Amino acid sequence: MIYFVTSNKGKYAEAQAIFGDIVQKDIGYAEIQADTLEEVAIFGMKEVAARLPGRVMIEDAGLFVEALKGFPGVYSAYVQKTIGNPGLLRLMEGQENRLAYFKSVVAYAEPGMEAVMFSGEVHGQIGFEARGSKGFGYDPIFYVGEVSLGEMEIAEKNQISHRAGSMRALKKWLDRR
Ligand code: IMP
Repeated sequence: MIYFVTSNKGKYAEAQAIFGDIVQKDIGYAEIQADTLEEVAIFGMKEVAARLPGRVMIEDAGLFVEALKGFPGVYSAYVQKTIGNPGLLRLMEGQENRLAYFKSVVAYAEPGMEAVMFSGEVHGQIGFEARGSKGFGYDPIFYVGEVSLGEMEIAEKNQISHRAGSMRALKKWLDRR
Protein backbone atom coordinates (compact mmCIF):
# COMPACT_ATOMS: atom_id res chain seq x y z
CA MET A 1 0.00 0.00 0.00
CA ILE A 2 1.32 3.43 -0.98
CA TYR A 3 0.36 6.61 0.85
CA PHE A 4 -0.05 9.67 -1.35
CA VAL A 5 0.49 12.64 0.92
CA THR A 6 -1.60 15.49 -0.44
CA SER A 7 -4.48 17.71 0.59
CA ASN A 8 -5.63 17.98 -3.02
CA LYS A 9 -8.57 15.68 -3.85
CA GLY A 10 -8.17 16.31 -7.58
CA LYS A 11 -4.56 15.16 -7.56
CA TYR A 12 -5.50 12.12 -5.54
CA ALA A 13 -8.30 11.16 -7.94
CA GLU A 14 -5.92 11.42 -10.90
CA ALA A 15 -3.24 9.37 -9.13
CA GLN A 16 -5.75 6.75 -8.05
CA ALA A 17 -6.90 6.25 -11.63
CA ILE A 18 -3.30 5.32 -12.44
CA PHE A 19 -2.23 3.37 -9.35
CA GLY A 20 -5.48 1.89 -8.09
CA ASP A 21 -4.51 0.89 -4.57
CA ILE A 22 -3.19 4.09 -3.00
CA VAL A 23 -4.40 5.91 0.11
CA GLN A 24 -4.63 9.66 0.52
CA LYS A 25 -2.94 11.12 3.61
CA ASP A 26 -3.70 14.72 4.29
CA ILE A 27 -0.99 15.37 6.87
CA GLY A 28 0.62 18.45 5.35
CA TYR A 29 4.34 19.16 5.07
CA ALA A 30 6.60 22.15 4.58
CA GLU A 31 6.94 23.38 1.01
CA ILE A 32 10.16 25.35 0.85
CA GLN A 33 10.70 28.34 -1.38
CA ALA A 34 13.11 27.06 -4.02
CA ASP A 35 13.87 27.54 -7.70
CA THR A 36 12.77 24.09 -8.84
CA LEU A 37 9.95 21.64 -8.22
CA GLU A 38 12.57 18.93 -7.64
CA GLU A 39 14.03 20.80 -4.66
CA VAL A 40 10.55 21.34 -3.20
CA ALA A 41 9.73 17.65 -3.61
CA ILE A 42 12.98 16.27 -2.20
CA PHE A 43 12.79 18.55 0.83
CA GLY A 44 9.14 17.67 1.44
CA MET A 45 9.91 13.97 1.10
CA LYS A 46 12.52 14.12 3.88
CA GLU A 47 9.86 15.38 6.29
CA VAL A 48 7.13 13.03 5.06
CA ALA A 49 9.34 9.92 5.16
CA ALA A 50 10.41 10.74 8.72
CA ARG A 51 6.83 11.17 9.88
CA LEU A 52 5.24 8.35 7.91
CA PRO A 53 7.51 5.32 7.71
CA GLY A 54 6.17 3.18 4.88
CA ARG A 55 5.73 3.50 1.14
CA VAL A 56 5.03 7.17 0.53
CA MET A 57 4.78 9.53 -2.40
CA ILE A 58 4.34 13.26 -2.73
CA GLU A 59 3.95 15.37 -5.82
CA ASP A 60 4.70 18.98 -6.62
CA ALA A 61 3.46 20.71 -9.75
CA GLY A 62 3.64 24.12 -11.36
CA LEU A 63 2.44 26.08 -14.36
CA PHE A 64 5.17 27.74 -16.45
CA VAL A 65 4.05 30.50 -18.82
CA GLU A 66 6.52 31.39 -21.57
CA ALA A 67 5.48 35.04 -21.98
CA LEU A 68 5.84 35.49 -18.20
CA LYS A 69 9.34 33.94 -18.23
CA GLY A 70 8.15 30.81 -16.45
CA PHE A 71 5.96 32.54 -13.85
CA PRO A 72 4.11 31.38 -11.76
CA GLY A 73 6.27 28.18 -11.79
CA VAL A 74 7.24 27.24 -8.25
CA TYR A 75 4.89 29.97 -6.98
CA SER A 76 1.85 28.42 -8.67
CA ALA A 77 0.02 27.54 -5.46
CA TYR A 78 0.44 31.03 -4.02
CA VAL A 79 -0.63 32.71 -7.25
CA GLN A 80 -3.66 30.43 -7.57
CA LYS A 81 -4.63 31.27 -3.98
CA THR A 82 -4.17 35.02 -4.40
CA ILE A 83 -4.99 36.32 -7.92
CA GLY A 84 -6.38 33.01 -9.21
CA ASN A 85 -7.32 32.27 -12.80
CA PRO A 86 -8.90 35.71 -13.40
CA GLY A 87 -5.66 37.35 -12.25
CA LEU A 88 -3.53 35.20 -14.51
CA LEU A 89 -5.80 35.92 -17.49
CA ARG A 90 -5.39 39.63 -16.73
CA LEU A 91 -1.60 39.27 -16.66
CA MET A 92 -1.85 37.70 -20.10
CA GLU A 93 -3.96 40.51 -21.59
CA GLY A 94 -2.35 41.74 -24.80
CA GLN A 95 0.04 38.76 -24.92
CA GLU A 96 0.07 36.98 -28.23
CA ASN A 97 2.39 34.25 -27.03
CA ARG A 98 0.10 32.02 -24.94
CA LEU A 99 2.47 29.03 -24.72
CA ALA A 100 2.67 27.37 -21.33
CA TYR A 101 3.36 24.02 -19.75
CA PHE A 102 2.60 22.17 -16.56
CA LYS A 103 5.33 20.18 -14.90
CA SER A 104 4.83 17.53 -12.24
CA VAL A 105 7.52 16.00 -10.04
CA VAL A 106 6.63 12.95 -8.00
CA ALA A 107 8.91 11.67 -5.25
CA TYR A 108 8.63 8.17 -3.80
CA ALA A 109 10.35 6.60 -0.81
CA GLU A 110 10.16 3.54 1.38
CA PRO A 111 12.13 2.61 4.50
CA GLY A 112 15.79 1.85 3.84
CA MET A 113 15.80 3.45 0.41
CA GLU A 114 16.86 6.79 -1.07
CA ALA A 115 13.90 8.68 -2.51
CA VAL A 116 13.42 8.48 -6.29
CA MET A 117 11.85 11.18 -8.46
CA PHE A 118 10.08 11.21 -11.80
CA SER A 119 8.73 14.12 -13.80
CA GLY A 120 6.19 14.76 -16.52
CA GLU A 121 5.12 17.75 -18.61
CA VAL A 122 2.18 18.76 -20.74
CA HIS A 123 2.53 21.61 -23.20
CA GLY A 124 -0.37 23.81 -24.22
CA GLN A 125 -1.64 27.36 -24.14
CA ILE A 126 -3.21 29.81 -21.75
CA GLY A 127 -6.67 30.49 -23.18
CA PHE A 128 -8.53 33.78 -23.30
CA GLU A 129 -11.28 32.58 -20.98
CA ALA A 130 -11.85 29.93 -18.34
CA ARG A 131 -13.78 26.91 -19.52
CA GLY A 132 -15.03 23.78 -17.76
CA SER A 133 -15.31 22.85 -14.12
CA LYS A 134 -14.09 19.27 -14.08
CA GLY A 135 -10.52 19.68 -12.90
CA PHE A 136 -8.95 21.98 -10.35
CA GLY A 137 -6.53 24.89 -10.10
CA TYR A 138 -5.46 26.25 -13.47
CA ASP A 139 -7.26 23.53 -15.48
CA PRO A 140 -10.00 25.82 -16.86
CA ILE A 141 -7.51 28.25 -18.43
CA PHE A 142 -4.99 25.70 -19.76
CA TYR A 143 -5.82 24.45 -23.24
CA VAL A 144 -4.47 21.58 -25.24
CA GLY A 145 -5.70 22.28 -28.73
CA GLU A 146 -9.25 23.62 -28.48
CA VAL A 147 -10.09 21.94 -25.19
CA SER A 148 -9.25 23.10 -21.67
CA LEU A 149 -8.16 20.62 -19.02
CA GLY A 150 -11.19 21.81 -17.07
CA GLU A 151 -13.43 20.33 -19.75
CA MET A 152 -11.79 16.90 -19.58
CA GLU A 153 -12.80 13.86 -17.59
CA ILE A 154 -10.01 12.41 -15.46
CA ALA A 155 -9.48 9.60 -17.99
CA GLU A 156 -8.93 12.16 -20.77
CA LYS A 157 -6.66 14.38 -18.68
CA ASN A 158 -4.69 11.31 -17.66
CA GLN A 159 -3.91 10.54 -21.29
CA ILE A 160 -1.88 13.72 -21.65
CA SER A 161 -1.21 15.34 -18.30
CA HIS A 162 2.05 16.18 -16.55
CA ARG A 163 0.89 14.24 -13.49
CA ALA A 164 -0.02 11.17 -15.52
CA GLY A 165 3.47 11.37 -17.05
CA SER A 166 5.33 11.50 -13.75
CA MET A 167 3.11 8.93 -12.07
CA ARG A 168 3.19 6.44 -14.93
CA ALA A 169 6.98 6.68 -14.88
CA LEU A 170 6.96 5.89 -11.15
CA LYS A 171 4.51 3.03 -11.65
CA LYS A 172 6.68 1.55 -14.38
CA TRP A 173 9.71 1.77 -12.10
CA LEU A 174 7.82 0.09 -9.26
CA ASP A 175 6.47 -2.65 -11.53
CA ARG A 176 9.92 -3.43 -12.88
CA ARG A 177 11.65 -3.96 -9.55
P1 IMP B 1 1.05 22.05 -5.86
O1 IMP B 1 1.71 20.95 -6.61
O2 IMP B 1 -0.04 21.53 -5.01
O3 IMP B 1 2.04 22.92 -5.15
O4 IMP B 1 0.31 22.90 -6.96
C1 IMP B 1 0.68 24.18 -7.35
C2 IMP B 1 -0.51 24.91 -7.89
O5 IMP B 1 -0.73 24.48 -9.22
C3 IMP B 1 -1.80 24.71 -7.12
O6 IMP B 1 -2.50 25.93 -7.08
C4 IMP B 1 -2.55 23.71 -7.96
O7 IMP B 1 -3.94 23.93 -7.88
C5 IMP B 1 -2.04 24.00 -9.35
N1 IMP B 1 -2.00 22.74 -10.10
C6 IMP B 1 -1.22 21.66 -9.84
N2 IMP B 1 -1.50 20.67 -10.70
C7 IMP B 1 -2.48 21.14 -11.50
C8 IMP B 1 -3.21 20.55 -12.55
O8 IMP B 1 -3.06 19.39 -12.92
N3 IMP B 1 -4.12 21.35 -13.13
C9 IMP B 1 -4.36 22.64 -12.74
N4 IMP B 1 -3.72 23.22 -11.76
C10 IMP B 1 -2.78 22.46 -11.13
